[in-house]
Amino acid sequence: MILEGKRVVETSVGRSPDDMMKVFSRVKSGVPGFDDLVSGGFNEGTVNTVTGGSGTGKTVFATQFIYYGVQNGEKCMIITPSESSESLKREIYSSFRWDLWKMEDQNMLSVVDVTDPTLRLQKSIDVDPVEFLMNFRKLVERKIKEEKPKRVFIDDLMAFFTAVESPFKVRSLADDLFGTLRAGGVTSVITIGTAFGMNQMLEYGADSCTILKRELIGNTLVRSIHIMKMRGSKISNSIRVLDISDDGMVVSALSPYP
Ligand SMILES: Nc1ncnc2c1ncn2[C@@H]1O[C@H](COP(=O)(O)OP(=O)(O)OP(=O)(O)O)[C@@H](O)[C@H]1O
Ligand SMILES: [Mg+2]
Repeated sequence: MILEGKRVVETSVGRSPDDMMKVFSRVKSGVPGFDDLVSGGFNEGTVNTVTGGSGTGKTVFATQFIYYGVQNGEKCMIITPSESSESLKREIYSSFRWDLWKMEDQNMLSVVDVTDPTLRLQKSIDVDPVEFLMNFRKLVERKIKEEKPKRVFIDDLMAFFTAVESPFKVRSLADDLFGTLRAGGVTSVITIGTAFGMNQMLEYGADSCTILKRELIGNTLVRSIHIMKMRGSKISNSIRVLDISDDGMVVSALSPYP
């Protein structure tokens, strides 16, 4: 509400235009139940990590974020540093019948395959990881400028950061990459594996961190999700069951614990 002389102007959501300029707009995750845990979605233009062990659902979460964006008319980008993009597309199609090839054909999705030798980013397995990550940052900057996506998903960067010896360098390379993503105005989701125990270095630099796990409850492994942090937002403290089915991923209202 703003006062103009004696006239009171109500805006659509009861906020003044000045207020709306200052607070983040929310970007819906596309994962039903998730946005309720983070006061409405990711903050627009921020870097959001999804951390978990192997098979916890990181790639599914991030791909669903992209799939939802494309379905709602937003241009999106997937960057695959460790796995070939063809494998990712095939896995996702086999699991959910989400057709990433078609989205590319319709120019709604661009897929940057870092394993593609024509990009010459990874000349050999022995390439200096610092040089690789610096070139990777430049590639991301260039692709965002060219394609102008609204949403970006980078799948599992951990292997490259693990090869960097100095923790200080890891932190500064991560900060550079995250800075490039924010400057590009994109809302990004980055998946992080926990195998090498280096995930915290990246999480410190991110704007939000979501944790996926599999917990042993009785005789059953149950998928779980919780939010570790989201800068500039209220978050839920509860741990929730995470379901994956042929329709994709859903955050349940239930806790994995009795
Ligand atoms: N249609 C489906 N119904 C139920 N579960 C499924 C379905 N499709 C895939 N899954 C499960 O989702 C999980 C895949 O998760 P995802 O590939 O996102 O894991 P990840 O955390 O990225 O693992 P990694 O670290 O190995 O890349 C697998 O365990 C798989 O069994
Ligand atoms: Mg994965």
